[in-house]
Amino acid sequence: MKSFYNAEKISDNVWWVGAVDWSVRNFHGYLTERGTTYNAFLVIDEKVTLIDTVKTGFFDEMMERISTVIEPEKIDYIVSNHAEPDHSGSLPQAINAIKPEKVFASAMGAKTLKAYYGIDVEVVPASLSLGTGNLSFVETKMLHWPDSMISFYDRDGVLFSQDAFGQHLAGSKLWADEYQAEILEHEMSKYYANIINAQSAKVLALLDALPGLNLPLQIIAPDHGPLFRKDFGDVFAAYRRYAEQKPQAQAVVVFATMWHATEALARAFADGVRSSGVPVELIDLAVSERSAVMTVVAKSGLVAFGAPTMNNQVFPAMADVLTYIKGLKPLNKIGFAFGSCGWSGEGAKQIAAELENMKIEQPLAFIQSKYMPTREELLKAFDAGASLAGMLVKNTSC
Ligand code: FEO
Repeated sequence: MKSFYNAEKISDNVWWVGAVDWSVRNFHGYLTERGTTYNAFLVIDEKVTLIDTVKTGFFDEMMERISTVIEPEKIDYIVSNHAEPDHSGSLPQAINAIKPEKVFASAMGAKTLKAYYGIDVEVVPASLSLGTGNLSFVETKMLHWPDSMISFYDRDGVLFSQDAFGQHLAGSKLWADEYQAEILEHEMSKYYANIINAQSAKVLALLDALPGLNLPLQIIAPDHGPLFRKDFGDVFAAYRRYAEQKPQAQAVVVFATMWHATEALARAFADGVRSSGVPVELIDLAVSERSAVMTVVAKSGLVAFGAPTMNNQVFPAMADVLTYIKGLKPLNKIGFAFGSCGWSGEGAKQIAAELENMKIEQPLAFIQSKYMPTREELLKAFDAGASLAGMLVKNTSC
C-alpha cells in the first residue's frame, strides 16, 4: 500500500515505526535544539509485537507506518519498555485500535501505566517467546524512571534500550553512522548529562553486567534519535566515560548579571583560568538555559557560578540553574562562587551554600563586590581563576 509515512526495516524481522518530532524545542525544560524522535519498533514474528509507542499527537504517524508492514489489528503483543508519556502517550489509543492479545510492562511500569491511563497491563516474564525468536527483559530501574526496562530480541540481536543511549536528534536518517560524529557526540552527551547523569552508578552497574548477558548484539535501538548498527564498544565506552565523571581539564563560568558587575568578575575569573592554560567557557544566563549549562558543566572539572543579589535572594535565573544541576548530581568538580550586591548581599553566599549542598569542593571562599567591583576585586577574581585552574591541572594530570 502506498503511504505518506513508511516503516523502515532495521533487521530481518524488525521495523522502525516511530515518529519524528522536528519542531519540539522544550522537552520538559530541556532545550531540544535539533528536535527529537519517538522510536517504536514492530517485530514480525509468529507473535507480532510492537515495542513502545509514541508521544500523544504522533499516533497517526505511527499507525500509518505500521500499516505499510502489516494490518495493525494483527499485532498480538505490545511491550512498554518505559511509561514516560513520550513513549506511552499513544498507548491507550493503540490498545483501542489494535486490541492486542496482551500488553506487557515491568512491575513498576504496570503501576505507572495504571496511574496515567487507568489501563491494566501484564508484568513481563523474564523471557517471552515470539515464535522464531525470544524477547528477554532486564529491569533498568531509575534509568531513568523506576519502571524502565530494556528488551532484547535474540533472533535479530536487537537491544531495545529505551532512553539509554538515546539522543534528542530529529533526522531523516535512521543510523547513527549516517550522522556527523560531532553532532552525535554532542547530542548523546547532552542527553546523558540532562537525563541520565543522576543515576550514573546504575549505568556503571549495567555496563558491567552487559557482557555477562552474552547478548549476540547486532543493533542498539534506543527510543530517541538514531540507532547503532556497529561500533558498540564505542557506544558503551562513551557511556562509561560519562558515568565515571572523571574531572576534565576544562572550566565553565556561569553567570547572571543585572548591571554588569557580576559579569566583570566572571570575565576576570575566566581570564585567570585562561592564563593557566585551561580552556574556559563563559555562559551568560541571559542568553542561555539550564540544559545547555548542564551539558558544559558535566564536561568541566572547574565550575564557577556568579550572580547578583535581588531582593535578598540570589538572582532567580541562577537559583533555577543551581536547583536543576543539583538534581543531576554532578561529581568530581572544583567549585567557586562569586557575585555582586548593592546592600544585603545574599547572592554569592547562597551560591556557595548550594555548591556545598552538591558536595562540590570549594577550595577558595566566595568573592562578592558592592555595586561595581574595584580593580583589586577584579584582580582577586583573576587570581582565583588562575589558582583553581592550577589545582584542576594537578588533579587531572595525576
Ligand atoms: Fe524518553 Fe524517559 O522518556
